[in-house]
Amino acid sequence: MTETANNANFIFASCQAGAEAALRKEIPANHPELKLAFSRPGFVTFKVDVENRLPDRYTLKSTLARTSGWSLGRSESKDASEIITAIIENAGDVLARADVIHVWERDRKIPGAGGFEPGVSVLAEEAGKQLLAAMKATPEKFKKEPVLNRSAKPDALVFDVCIVEPNQWWYGFHEVNTTAGRWPGGVPMFDTDSDVVSRAYFKLKEAILWSGLPVSEGDVCAEIGSAPGGACQLLLEMGAKVIAIDPAEMEPEVLENPNLNHIRRRGHEVKKRDFRDVRWLFADITMVPNYTLDTVSEIVAHDAVNIKGMALTLKLTNWELLDSVPAWIKRVKDLGFKHVRTRQLAFNRQEICLIAAKDKFVLRSAKKKASPAKASPRG
Ligand SMILES: C[S@@+](CC[C@H](N)C(=O)[O-])C[C@H]1O[C@@H](n2cnc3c(N)ncnc32)[C@H](O)[C@@H]1O
Repeated sequence: MTETANNANFIFASCQAGAEAALRKEIPANHPELKLAFSRPGFVTFKVDVENRLPDRYTLKSTLARTSGWSLGRSESKDASEIITAIIENAGDVLARADVIHVWERDRKIPGAGGFEPGVSVLAEEAGKQLLAAMKATPEKFKKEPVLNRSAKPDALVFDVCIVEPNQWWYGFHEVNTTAGRWPGGVPMFDTDSDVVSRAYFKLKEAILWSGLPVSEGDVCAEIGSAPGGACQLLLEMGAKVIAIDPAEMEPEVLENPNLNHIRRRGHEVKKRDFRDVRWLFADITMVPNYTLDTVSEIVAHDAVNIKGMALTLKLTNWELLDSVPAWIKRVKDLGFKHVRTRQLAFNRQEICLIAAKDKFVLRSAKKKASPAKASPRG
C-alpha cells in the first residue's frame, strides 16, 4: 500500500455466526503468521507476526472468511457519538483517504433462521450516516466525501466498521482486491424482500456474482437436487434452459415454465446422454459432500458430456469436514476443471460453495456478463 501508513498489527475477518470456531482453526492453518486475538460469533481478529508480516494488500486463504482487512482497534460507549469521536481521533488519517465506508453488524443468527438474512442492517446504515455527518462537520480534515455501503471499485480504499455489539464498534480498512471485498462485510447487496421459491435463489445468485460463472441466455443448465426450485427460478430468469433433477416435487410456477424439464429421479439414475447439451452443472443435494462429488464425477467423466463449469453446494454435516476441502478441490481438478475455488457464501447455511471451471477465461469474462436479478423465500 502506498498511501496508507499501515502500522496495524491485527487483521479482522467476518464469517457466519457459528463458523468462528472453524475459522479460528482454518486461518492459522493456512497462515501460520497469524495468531488468534479476539473472537465473537461472526467476527474474529488475528495478531500478525511482525517478523513475517502479511503484505499490506494480502488475500486471505480461507473458505470461511467473508471479508477481511487490517484492524485499527475498537471503541466502546453507550453513546454512538463518543464512539465516532474516538474513531475519528484514532483513525482519521485512514478515514480521510477512504473512497468507500462499509458499516455492518456481525451476524447473530444463521442465515435463513427466523427470517434473518445477512446484509447491512438498519442500525449499521444509521451508524454509517452518523459517521459521515461527523466527517462533514470537519471539512478541513475530511476533504474527500466517501460513499456509504456501496459496492466498492477494484483497488478502492475501504474504511470498515463492524458493529460487534451496539456499544462496541471495531474499525479498520482494506484495499479491494477480491470480488467479495467490494461488498459491506463481504455480503453481496441485493434485495432479499421479494418473493422467491426458496433460499437457494439467494445462494445461487451470490455464487454467480462471486465467481462470475457466465450463465447466459439460451445456455443449457442442469441442477441435481432442484426441488422446490429457487435456483431454477433464478436460472430461468437469466434466460437459461434448465434440466431440474430431483425425486421431490418442484413448485408449480417453476414447473410450468416451458424452459424447464423436470426429471423426477436421483442424479445417478439419469441417463448420461441427457447431459450432452449441458454447459453448466449445479448440485444442491441433501447428502454428504462425497456423495455429491461421486454423482457429478460420473456425469462429467462421461464421453458424451462437455460441461464447462459447475457450482456445487457441499453440506458440512460437521465442521471437521472442512479439513477435506483440499481433497475435494483435488478431486474436481482431477476431473479436468483446472480452476476450482471454495467459499462459504453469506447466504449458505452450514455448507460451502465449490465453483469449478475448465477454462479460466470462463470465470474472468463472466464478471461483465452475469447480472442475475432481484429477490424473500416463501414459507
Ligand atoms: C436443499 S434441497 C435443494 C434446494 C433447491 N436447489 C432449490 O433451489 O430449491 C435438497 C434436495 O436434494 C434432493 N436430493 C437428495 N438426494 C438426491 C439425489 N441423489 N439426486 C437428486 N436430488 C436429491 C432432495 O429431494 C431435496 O429436494
